[in-house]
Amino acid sequence: MRKPIIAGNWKMNKTIKEAFELVNGLKKNLSGVKGVDMVVCPPFTSLSETSNALKGSSIKTGGQDLFWEEKGAYTGEISVSMLKDAGADYVIIGHSERRQFFNETNDSVNKKLKRALAGGLTPIVCVGERLAEREAGDTFKVVEDHVQGALKAITEKEILNTIFAYEPVWAIGTGKTATPEQAEEVHAFIRKIIGRQYSKEAASAVRIQYGGSVTPENISSLLDKPDVDGALVGGASLKVDTFTEIVRRAADKRA
Ligand code: PGA
Repeated sequence: MRKPIIAGNWKMNKTIKEAFELVNGLKKNLSGVKGVDMVVCPPFTSLSETSNALKGSSIKTGGQDLFWEEKGAYTGEISVSMLKDAGADYVIIGHSERRQFFNETNDSVNKKLKRALAGGLTPIVCVGERLAEREAGDTFKVVEDHVQGALKAITEKEILNTIFAYEPVWAIGTGKTATPEQAEEVHAFIRKIIGRQYSKEAASAVRIQYGGSVTPENISSLLDKPDVDGALVGGASLKVDTFTEIVRRAADKRA
């Protein structure tokens, strides 16, 4: 049985003080919650404070990106060891906003994934089609390209430590969530690709989150689907109440 994982992607939001308030609220509200992995991914500037504030709770932290080199003349970049030093256990890789605005490619996603795994962080690899691609009937083609591009030379042992997030771009920040059926068919497809490339065991072990306008109102019906193992939450992760509610409903589902 795969344990659900709810992760908050704060994107470029929250000062250190605001981050501190948010995680203190979450820590209080979610202290007794069991059966679901909880992660928040603040901007780099508040990662360390956030990790410190969450010490002693079961909420973990993650970075929103990383660079594949360890150190050196790479202005503006962050390494695995820096993320770990700031208390992170997870890292988001290949978010569609990075693909769209910062030239992220399958190749860079693959390099980042290898580095994150080698450095001991749990990667959350984002894949998903844009609206025009869905309308052109290319959803599966795009998702396959993202998944296979990310997994070049990744071993079976490594894939077991990798989390995927299916995030249809048209659903991100739009209030237009994919239906549970739309999410399920792509999640099942991703599992099929993993099964083909690795093994049946790997396919059934890997966790696949859904992301795109997840709210307290729609999380339960998404989690009703057998291949949906949690959520990567943007907007609704910025408030104590909504993120708390999403996590609680996920925990209730699997209780
Ligand atoms: P959203 O963002 O929940 O605001 O749609 C999700 C994401 O981009 O990870």
